[in-house]
Amino acid sequence: MGLIFDSITGHGLIELPVISSPFGKLTFCESNRHIPFEIARSYLVYDVPDSSERGGHAHRYQMSVIFAMHGRFRVTVNDGRKATSYWLDSPHQGLYMGKMLWRDINSYSGSAVCGGLSSGHYDEGDYIRDWDSFVAEVRTRNA
Ligand code: TYD
Repeated sequence: MGLIFDSITGHGLIELPVISSPFGKLTFCESNRHIPFEIARSYLVYDVPDSSERGGHAHRYQMSVIFAMHGRFRVTVNDGRKATSYWLDSPHQGLYMGKMLWRDINSYSGSAVCGGLSSGHYDEGDYIRDWDSFVAEVRTRNA
């Protein structure tokens, strides 16, 4: 398995191993192997009502990988110049998002469960929750 994206700033899909048996499937991931950072935090998003819009933020330094552990949803990632959409619908496929990427998450199917892994402990100071502030920070960093 190769990581074909920039593991600091890029985004892309990660395929996790699947161990199949007549009794079901098992998927796993390890820090710095399947996940391109040391995992500091995990979280779940569930019981999402129809037409919910989640995300709507970027992280200044933290990296994350999210999975559709059940059901499906759409993630649109924007680096301030270009937007890319991904449908997540498989527990063995994660979406890696490096730092400074705006993400909008919507179109959750009923009973969808989103699992997230992050490189840092929860820190509201790492969030940028205003689009104009995000674009301004991107411009400053690229200046
Ligand atoms: P947020 O990251 O904005 O969720 P989403 O991107 O799914 O819309 O988090 C929603 C709320 O939950 C916000 O008040 C922060 C809080 N939160 C924590 O306290 N710890 C965590 O690990 C996460 C991910 C969120």
